[in-house]
Amino acid sequence: MRAVDIIIRKRDGEELTAEEIGFLVKGIASGDIPDYQIAAWAMAVLWRGMTIRETVDLTLAMAGSGQQLDLEKWAPGAVDKHSTGGVGDKTTLVVGPIVAACGVPVVKMSGRGLGISGGTIDKWESIPGFRTDLSRGEILRQVKEIGLVACTQTAELAPADGRLYALRDVTGTVPSLPLIASSVMSKKIASGARAIVLDVKAGSGAFMETVAEASTLARWMVRIGCGAGRRTVALVSGMFQPLGFAVGNALEVREAIETLRGAGPKDFRGHCLTIAAVMLQTGGRVRHARLGRALAEEKLNGGDALAKFRALVRAQGGDERVCDDLSLLPATPCRGILAVEKAGFIAEANAGKIGLASVRLGAGRAKKGDTIDPAVGIVLSVKVGDRVRRGDSLCEVHAATPEGLSQAQDELKGAFRIVREKVKPLPLFYRTIRR
Ligand code: URA
Repeated sequence: MRAVDIIIRKRDGEELTAEEIGFLVKGIASGDIPDYQIAAWAMAVLWRGMTIRETVDLTLAMAGSGQQLDLEKWAPGAVDKHSTGGVGDKTTLVVGPIVAACGVPVVKMSGRGLGISGGTIDKWESIPGFRTDLSRGEILRQVKEIGLVACTQTAELAPADGRLYALRDVTGTVPSLPLIASSVMSKKIASGARAIVLDVKAGSGAFMETVAEASTLARWMVRIGCGAGRRTVALVSGMFQPLGFAVGNALEVREAIETLRGAGPKDFRGHCLTIAAVMLQTGGRVRHARLGRALAEEKLNGGDALAKFRALVRAQGGDERVCDDLSLLPATPCRGILAVEKAGFIAEANAGKIGLASVRLGAGRAKKGDTIDPAVGIVLSVKVGDRVRRGDSLCEVHAATPEGLSQAQDELKGAFRIVREKVKPLPLFYRTIRR
């Protein structure tokens, strides 16, 4: 078999066999196939697509390309959760502690932010001292002790995806449905949880810009997960405006702690409770999501989720005093608001544009390996549907320098649209997809 023949077949729109896909994945993981051939193949897939059968084969081959965790042995009943990425998406920081406080183990492996999509690892690391590069032994010990782990994905897990994703990132081949579905699901399958809840985002701040596209991606991922013997459920949620108010690493940690203390933005709290409820149901802790929601609310309101968050921060070397004193989180020297120029109703708070402004402030990376500033970001004062008067704040910018502040303020003007007529608030969720 030769890689070039497989590239040509895909270029011409043909369906690849399981053997061809297996050959490619093996060559990607071992380094035998050079970058230029992998990139050419990824571009052919982007244009020609893949059938669901090819996508399942690609996922399973990538999941099997490295180490696989047997979480069930160490943490029976563990539930995994994955978001396809968005702006202001700090859900894991709240949902992990809620679900663990309900007695369901959570081992959450996350990535770093890239482009406008924030990364949960960057958020955790904005807590002083917090370590995320845990060894396999540390992960297994901690999940046994406190039922909750937040760590980076180890390089041994689905290594073929690691190499392929890095190449896709620099060759314009990320936004391909079969490549995204197989990339996400290969890591979920290799991570070992028997139950998986997917939060598939739709909107300007997500990979999939429309609800229809996100729903197709969600359906494919559910089919792949269930086909691999994992109970998999997907929720399609909105990423047309940021989730909650805060965008930026330490700012999002602050908002997550406020939510765990019983306050926090209404949309973010509601989003977390729904995801937690579906995790509890999918993991078999409760029979109905309705019961899961009641249990999740009890653990959030009663402070058990905050206690779990505190135990996690302590276990991973972080300064747990941040739970009581938010001023211990990194903060910027320069702050300023963007004011409303004409009264009306907020029709748009564009997640993509706000995410980009936050990256330019230094909260995210333009390319892999860039350093980030944990303190910078944007805190919205409004959501779509809100009524505003002239002079009100649309958002507060947290910048490292006065120049950064005024540049972001200029840039953010284009992210908001205000109209005269009343506007309905946006839905949090569009649909739930089960097998
Ligand atoms: N997240 C992933 O892990 N892979 C993708 O392809 C896109 C988002």
